[in-house]
Amino acid sequence: MMHFKNPEEIELMRISARLVSQTLTEIAKILKPGITTLYIDQLIGDMIKSYDATPSFLGYSGYPFNSCISVNDVVVHGFPTKTELKDGDVVSVDIGVYKNGYHGDHAYTFAIGDVKEEHMQLIRVTKESLYKGIEKAIAGNRVGDIGWAIQEHTEKQYGYGVVRELVGHGLGRKMHEDPQVPNYGRRGSGAKLREGLVLAIEPMINLGVKEVYTEEDGWTVRTLDHKCSVHFEHDVAVGKGKADILSDYSIIEAAEDANPNLKKERETVA
Ligand code: MF3
Ligand code: CO
Repeated sequence: MMHFKNPEEIELMRISARLVSQTLTEIAKILKPGITTLYIDQLIGDMIKSYDATPSFLGYSGYPFNSCISVNDVVVHGFPTKTELKDGDVVSVDIGVYKNGYHGDHAYTFAIGDVKEEHMQLIRVTKESLYKGIEKAIAGNRVGDIGWAIQEHTEKQYGYGVVRELVGHGLGRKMHEDPQVPNYGRRGSGAKLREGLVLAIEPMINLGVKEVYTEEDGWTVRTLDHKCSVHFEHDVAVGKGKADILSDYSIIEAAEDANPNLKKERETVA
């Protein structure tokens, strides 16, 4: 069942989404080679508690950490570990915050140090595809329009692999609500979008093949060919004629720009 939110609920969801953005911003400030993803996860847990909020992921279907930190060939749901980040790593940080009865759930991919150009292009194109999907999140369109736009930009234009097994989702009082939001699809197919529907749109795009597998831990999803994968996620309220992006990349990007240990996709030539 889809849940349509009234304007007051949308404002509460904006608070949750922005708390995730704020947390990602603090992480963007401290990312560098040599720190462990477990340390990052602990900072994330501490920050969320300081907001009088709860980490949405911790305990969700038994998930054992505050966040998912997915490095290089890990697509999503990476466990934070004691392994140090190193120069050239591509790191997706995915965070959920539960506050005032609503979840925020979004993600950003960072480039640590001197990341290869082909990986920088994957980062740039995946982020672009997220915005192409968001453009379709308007009342009267269908879910398939979003996936179609993402797939066109990534798979058709660049030959990247669009992950099929994992999808975006509705968001609200529960972290996963209807509808599912695939990153592939046919124009004009699927559920009709109406004002007040909040979606977590989250392209997961592979440099190589689209196939993935899940590790023995039951969570970590990796690319079958072990090539790099990138993940961006925004929380978006469907509007009339325009989507309302509840999360905020501008503060994350400003922190990224100020951190000399990060390479920026905006600096790479198209
Ligand atoms: N952004 C992911 C999702 O929407 C994160 C879920 S991790 C989990 O599915 F541990 F909470 F499941
Ligand atoms: Co999500």
